[in-house]
Amino acid sequence: MNVLFVDDEQAILDGYRFLMHQFRRQWTSFYACSANDAIDILSREAIDLVISDMRMPGIDGAELLAIVRERWPGVTRIVLTGQADQAAMMRAIPEAHQFLSKPCDHVTLTEFIQRVAILRAQTMSDDLLQIAGALPTLPSAPKVYNAIMSALRNENASIVQIARIVESDPTLSARVLQLINSSYYGSGKRVSSIAVATQLLGLDFIRTLTLACHVFQSSTSTEHKLWLDSFQEHSLTVARTMMELARQDDKEVWFAAGLLHDIGENVLRTRISSNDHAAEDILRNHKGLHARIGAYLLGSWGISMPIVEATALHHTPWLAVGEARRISSLLFAIEVSVNEESLVDVPPEFLPEVEECLTNIPASFLAEGVA
Ligand SMILES: [Fe+2]
Ligand SMILES: [Fe+2]
Repeated sequence: MNVLFVDDEQAILDGYRFLMHQFRRQWTSFYACSANDAIDILSREAIDLVISDMRMPGIDGAELLAIVRERWPGVTRIVLTGQADQAAMMRAIPEAHQFLSKPCDHVTLTEFIQRVAILRAQTMSDDLLQIAGALPTLPSAPKVYNAIMSALRNENASIVQIARIVESDPTLSARVLQLINSSYYGSGKRVSSIAVATQLLGLDFIRTLTLACHVFQSSTSTEHKLWLDSFQEHSLTVARTMMELARQDDKEVWFAAGLLHDIGENVLRTRISSNDHAAEDILRNHKGLHARIGAYLLGSWGISMPIVEATALHHTPWLAVGEARRISSLLFAIEVSVNEESLVDVPPEFLPEVEECLTNIPASFLAEGVA
């Protein structure tokens, strides 16, 4: 994997250089002291991951990542920000896959690079790209999602503006209100304004819901509609269970991961007609393909990295490290508990971890027995 570090402070770049020397056999690193320098390197080298500082003279981190998104959409984009950069961070939200807070210690940084490498191996490998290419066109992100993203790119974007976009989609509006007023979200008061709901749920959450609504909505065949009902029920139940188990800070991400983890399953079902045997074979021969296709799609739509990781690894959580391992292990355990996964292929050393997750799943979830 090729990693590009961008920072206007030479001392920080030297620190990265020193750190990455130990990992030179695994990763090749490049260093740029300005956005222009970075663009030069990106034009010459096949970069996989850009880690950029936010504050730089001239083109800053958010602007640089916007350029990278446009010109090199396959590159993973990370921005490092300090506490004081709230306004700049808002601008970077639609451009970055993940934020790291500055200063970032070496253990956090290298574990993070490792997570990106694992995720890219799952979602950008040649075999997957070939399968994705063989399927009839993959869906694009919904219009309302794109509208939210482009509003966020505008420096003066406000919650009110985002709320207006949400309001323009009745299904989405209904879902947002349903969610905020449901007992499991636990806001404790009745909310009937989309603007208030958007504020309470947060922009990231609204983005996820936009995608989920889109996925649960579209179907023409009766057979698929029936399947979609149980799929939606499964996704929502997993999302609720994840939220119940999450710490306060993780609730949004865990809920979103639960909601979207099987998104690839629906994509594959929608794309593959029942008499398409070649495609059926692809599905049968590639266990866990829905996880990788789903993550590939979410990644290409710019969804934040922890959600994409959880989706990619929810049938192979033993490949994950750090935070990604916690979320994907739990998702895996939930899949096991509803018989969508078995323990047969689990490496023996991972069994205690999955067993511990299984004991944490609330009995109420198991009682619902959704499949
Ligand atoms: Fe699932
Ligand atoms: Fe799954």
